[in-house]
Amino acid sequence: MVESTKSATLTIDGKSYDLPIYSPTAGPDVIDIRKLYAQSGMFTFDPGFTSTASCESDITFIDGAKGELLHRGYPIDQLAEKSHYLEVCYLLLYGELPTAPEMEDFESRVTNHTMVHEQMHNFFRGFRRDAHPMATLVGVVGAMSAFYHDSTDINDLMQREIASVRMIAKLPTIAAMAYKYSIGQPFVYPRNDLDYASNFLHMCFAVPAESYEVNPILARAMDRIFTLHADHEQNASTSTVRLAGSSGANPFACVAAGIACLWGPAHGGANQACLEMLQEIGTVDRIPEFIARAKDKNDPFRLMGFGHRVYKNFDPRATVMKKSADEVLELLGVENNPTLQVAKELERQALNDPYFTEKKLFPNVDFYSGIILEAMGFPTSMFTPIFALSRTVGWISQWKEMIGDSQLKIGRPRQLYTGATRRDYTDVETR
Ligand code: CMC
Repeated sequence: MVESTKSATLTIDGKSYDLPIYSPTAGPDVIDIRKLYAQSGMFTFDPGFTSTASCESDITFIDGAKGELLHRGYPIDQLAEKSHYLEVCYLLLYGELPTAPEMEDFESRVTNHTMVHEQMHNFFRGFRRDAHPMATLVGVVGAMSAFYHDSTDINDLMQREIASVRMIAKLPTIAAMAYKYSIGQPFVYPRNDLDYASNFLHMCFAVPAESYEVNPILARAMDRIFTLHADHEQNASTSTVRLAGSSGANPFACVAAGIACLWGPAHGGANQACLEMLQEIGTVDRIPEFIARAKDKNDPFRLMGFGHRVYKNFDPRATVMKKSADEVLELLGVENNPTLQVAKELERQALNDPYFTEKKLFPNVDFYSGIILEAMGFPTSMFTPIFALSRTVGWISQWKEMIGDSQLKIGRPRQLYTGATRRDYTDVETR
């Protein structure tokens, strides 16, 4: 824990309380209120955690005003350009970029865990074919603790390590199986001679009846999508994983909880919702109608892929994603894709509209990712599972950091109760 260098004084009804202040290596100072309840008998109130740091972490840093995202200090645009997903996984998990032998060892450990227990195939067959792949993913990842119970002891460092590698290795296999199952095609086993992203494309798009060649440019774009989603500090799903893990639950159960949280349209579900919105808009002439709806307080409609709790400037991931979308669509010869045209014009009009500029609403990572994924051949229902498999490393890194923290306490927020005070039960005849 960092040392307190200064303190804040809180005065309530004439009584003063000294609260230590900690200075992080980057970002705003934090006021430590842990002893406030014991000293004053009062809670703080912060629904949505807009002003609350829930943990100490040295994994990821976001400067929302600058539009900067750093993993272990390295900017996301440099990692997206020069690194690759498995190297970023190593960085997030272990804190430093790997040497060549360390990378080789890590890659081989991940590659050797890509297959899932054969009995999982039967487990999949219990789902309805028309289930959303996210529904299947939540169930199957939760069930991993039943299939891999030899790596669920969180007090055993080796088991924690094996569980981490298993999840990073198997999530693409499970996500691809959820997809294959939903379209009635046979499961495709992983190929360990392929890199992580190519193997995922292979498991999604190969069929036993034909040979399938992975396009290296698409594999690179896929890898970049994984990299851009790898971690994002204490977002809703990561906080869910930490909260679940704070009770001592096993990591498979915790990651399943994170996947459930990610599914919502305000979070990871936004990529599916965004592409569906762009398709619903359809043509550029309809954009003003949708912008007007987004600004109308009486209409619940929001521009999906716009706005962020932390970024009050461009989401740096969106900038890389936009460039990638251009490259992929050009490669596929669909640069005049109508959805991309609508996206670009919508972005232009929104960024020239005071409603969006004054509220600092900029395109986020989900604004362009769906266009690339659709061009690659993924249905919209697979967008959020792809986000989930990419984010798995972030969830695990944050979970591992929390488990290793000597100050770990079960997460247990308090409340501002506004319900009925004590009253006596009445029999039904007298109500
Ligand atoms: N379209 C129109 N208005 C918006 C939008 C939007 N997309 N986002 C925020 N606003 C308005 C909102 O109505 C509010 O206005 P006012 O101050 O007049 O009441 C103001 O901007 C602040 O919004 P908020 O809901 O208080 O902000 P938040 O930090 O709680 O929410 C958000 C952040 C991402 C949930 C929100 O911007 C949103 O719903 N965006 C659309 C969904 C989306 O794209 N989500 C993906 C986020 S990035 C990937 C990820 O983390 O998973």
